[in-house]
Amino acid sequence: MTTSGDIYLDNNATTRPFPEVIDTVARHLRENYANPGSRHRPGQAARKVLEEARETIARILGAAAGEVVFTSGGTESINLALFGLAQGKPGTILLTAGEHPATLESCRRLQRDGWNLHFLHVDGEGLLIPEQYDRLPWGEIRLVSLILAHNETGVIQNIAPLAERCRAHGVPIHLDAVQAVGRFRSIFTRSGCGRSAWGRTNFTGRGASGRCCCARGPS
Ligand SMILES: Cc1ncc(COP(=O)(O)O)c(C=O)c1O
Repeated sequence: MTTSGDIYLDNNATTRPFPEVIDTVARHLRENYANPGSRHRPGQAARKVLEEARETIARILGAAAGEVVFTSGGTESINLALFGLAQGKPGTILLTAGEHPATLESCRRLQRDGWNLHFLHVDGEGLLIPEQYDRLPWGEIRLVSLILAHNETGVIQNIAPLAERCRAHGVPIHLDAVQAVGRFRSIFTRSGCGRSAWGRTNFTGRGASGRCCCARGPS
């Protein structure tokens, strides 16, 4: 329920922040507003809060603190991961037609730079069809980018069988896990993937503070 009495149901677009999130953010804006890159004491206090937040998020997600990079939101995280991974000679990117525009538009941009987009087949329920994996042009594939939990259909992909093939071929996977955070733990472990982009507001956090988690290794 909103303060105007409306019943709010659009939690896939964004969630209402928990009161304790609002209180914590307000407290740190009051007390720890210094630049965390500064050497003076207030700066160091802000740095401590930032690093503790990074560790907490890493623990929740099953990642290491050094793998969590804060961004402004899901779109920036996805941009960072895709444009970071698509360095060097262009090749083929695997994705589905149902990717969020944050992924789709980034891939279309890469297409203009010579990348080829290969859309994976899904069944009538929107789930990836594993039978196609053996017939994919693995020699050309340089990157895979997939939505883990769909923001409109709610479909959750089983990424593990594709991740296994990617590992065998040394192909990095980027997961748009914006809608998956908070639904299940340890996205890396569950999916067997290397890089994920996470949004913020979809799990009762404060708006405009997304995160991108980049794991080491090719997959
Ligand atoms: C699946 C998915 N990917 C990416 C985004 C983009 O995230 P943001 O709005 O934080 O830029 C959203 C937004 O809700 C989303 O649902």
